[in-house]
Amino acid sequence: MTTQPSTLKGLVLSGGRGRRLRPITYTGAKQLVPVANRPILFYVLENLSEAGIKDVGIIISPETGKEIKHAVGDGRDWGLKVDYILQEEPLGLAHAVKIARPYLGMNPFIMYLGDNLIGSGIAKFRRDFEQSKADASILLKEVDAPTNFGIAEVDKQGRVIRLVEKPKAPVSNLALVGIYFFSAKIHEAVTKIRPSLRGELEITDAIQWLLDHDNKVVSHRLEEWWLDTGKKDDLLTANTAVLDGWIRRKIKGKVDATSQVTGRVDLGKGSQIVSSKVRGPVVIGENVHIEGSFIGPFTSIGNGCRIRSAVVEHSVVLENAVIEHIDRLEDSLIGKGSFIVQGNGNHHAYRLTVGDDSVVEL
Ligand code: G1P
Repeated sequence: MTTQPSTLKGLVLSGGRGRRLRPITYTGAKQLVPVANRPILFYVLENLSEAGIKDVGIIISPETGKEIKHAVGDGRDWGLKVDYILQEEPLGLAHAVKIARPYLGMNPFIMYLGDNLIGSGIAKFRRDFEQSKADASILLKEVDAPTNFGIAEVDKQGRVIRLVEKPKAPVSNLALVGIYFFSAKIHEAVTKIRPSLRGELEITDAIQWLLDHDNKVVSHRLEEWWLDTGKKDDLLTANTAVLDGWIRRKIKGKVDATSQVTGRVDLGKGSQIVSSKVRGPVVIGENVHIEGSFIGPFTSIGNGCRIRSAVVEHSVVLENAVIEHIDRLEDSLIGKGSFIVQGNGNHHAYRLTVGDDSVVEL
């Protein structure tokens, strides 16, 4: 069955090297870093599926493509048909559109950056785009650091006047969220622009080209939260927001009689809580062992972790990490398979970002 040219396809960008989340992303794709124990990319695919999208092309890089394919497979878990498109080098978002052209054909599409997480679905934005008959529809959100984003200048009626990628002197604090709707017109735009100072073909410049050539570009404000989860603090904030909004109490593992598990705690099967306190919202994966510890609100603990005699709060601990004898660990991101231990006589609170498979003796 071939896709009708009017069918909206999905284009998910899951390449790049994730420099800003190093050291975590030395060993993994930033789109697979978990928030509340689920990879960010899975929320993206879920959002596309819920908006009625069936066909999704995922842009992958040579460095992390295999890992992405392994996690997502053919997309059937989300009711999607997923195809993969290899981007040999990270030459920009507009470059990704260029190489996806054979896949996209003349179809309109939604381009969704695989590391962007928003606090809502996208079905309403899809409807608006389709009704507007625009060539591009963008989502805007106020940010604190406009120099890090694509920034939009809008008039009093909310019409987009100008877009600038990472401006040195921003004219507004309205950032382009990494979710864009395009008609096939964008294919012409991406061939007309030149690489930016960072050597990339910017999608922001391609949308500006559409504006300059009298094409219809509409914008919407995103009212809910948005996290461009490229950095550690963003990741912790995303984790907090997702745990706060979406976690329900679900106890599949075992809690012994001397432990207290209060509030919204999702405890996976095969996990054990021994002589400990867990105060939600908290998500704990499968086969986790927690003993003599306090796990405080807004913490996500991945599968296979072991935590003994420790206090952990407002942190993300990735799978198979071991944390022992730590007075207090907070606002931390602990990589897969890491081992964190505190020496005798040290009594401190720690804020750490630790890459995968590290050993940290404090
Ligand atoms: C990219 C876009 C930028 C947009 C941002 C959203 O930035 O170039 O316009 O605001 O995604 O996540 P990058 O992540 O490549 O720095």
